[in-house]
Amino acid sequence: MDQIGTSNAFFSIWFLLFLALSVTPLVFSRTLSADPDPCDAMKLRDFQKLRSDQITVLINGYSESRIPLLQSIVAAYSGSSIVSSILVLWGNPTTPAQLLDHLYHNLTRYSLGTASISLIQQPSSSLNARFLPRPSVDTRAVLICDDDVEVDKKSLEFAFSVWKSNPDRLVGMFVRSHGFDLQGKDWIYTVHPDKYSIVLTKFMMMKQDYLFEYSCNGGVEMEEMRGVVDTMRNCEDILMNFVAADKLRAGPVMVGAERVRDWGDARNDEEEQEQVENGVREAGLSSRRVEHRKRRGKCIREFHRVMGKMPLMYSYGKVVNSVGEQGLCRKSGKLVFCDRD
Ligand SMILES: *[C@@H]1O[C@H](CO)[C@@H](O)[C@H](O)[C@H]1NC(C)=O
Repeated sequence: MDQIGTSNAFFSIWFLLFLALSVTPLVFSRTLSADPDPCDAMKLRDFQKLRSDQITVLINGYSESRIPLLQSIVAAYSGSSIVSSILVLWGNPTTPAQLLDHLYHNLTRYSLGTASISLIQQPSSSLNARFLPRPSVDTRAVLICDDDVEVDKKSLEFAFSVWKSNPDRLVGMFVRSHGFDLQGKDWIYTVHPDKYSIVLTKFMMMKQDYLFEYSCNGGVEMEEMRGVVDTMRNCEDILMNFVAADKLRAGPVMVGAERVRDWGDARNDEEEQEQVENGVREAGLSSRRVEHRKRRGKCIREFHRVMGKMPLMYSYGKVVNSVGEQGLCRKSGKLVFCDRD
């Protein structure tokens, strides 16, 4: 009961401290939201009727030292015509307001296109807050991303076209796996050379409905799993994969990118070298990376325990934007052009 009360209180606070998007550039304003409960506000929303010709980008920012990177990512995404708006979710409650004012000025000054940009200070550092549904988001698709990866415009637009033909799936570029360790007889977090079941929030595109599922549905089970995310200070991305796979009974879709600038971040750092083509040598893992994997494995086991089942499902292959703008899809184990049956 305690947890439920706390969480509702948090929801209210998030909304009270919601820094509204301002259409006037160079003005950074904080306003109080009229609606105290985002779940209530979203209940009546018909997600299917939302516009699906554009996306909303939700970028998590936390580290002040990474602000230049954040600016670069926002500028890059703002230059794409498929981006309706960009919400920078600032998760560090100790950042001085003045610094955020400057950041906001810079973000709007250097934006390239017509996308509206807003900066929202999250009142707590809870990682669950990044998945909070927001009434201002008027597109069906949202792109969830971290402040460590810049994806080129063409790949962003390609990913969106893949999402449009797979609107129920999570679409991503960076993938991981769950696995079952036969010796330890338990679930683990790992990387497989040829299959995956988890997309990371370095780039995660999905329908907005899943934000609602994550934050508002699922009763005490979801409440408890969001609690795991808070306790572990990690794994909100894994939980979102659980939520989507459980709803859909299908794994995510991996898309290829042409140019990715990956600066790595504290959380994903230790994983960078795991992106190998030919499998992973456990013996070669640094102790930090082993620790990171263990924590992520623990999350998987906790989510599995609470749900009483393992909803994650494997997907194989990746969709690539090959020569001639032709997408390749895997069908019955073979790579074929997506528009061919
Ligand atoms: C804003 O931009 C100026 C000029 O590029 C830079 O010196 C400053 O550090 C930036 N500040 C923030 C908070 O982004």
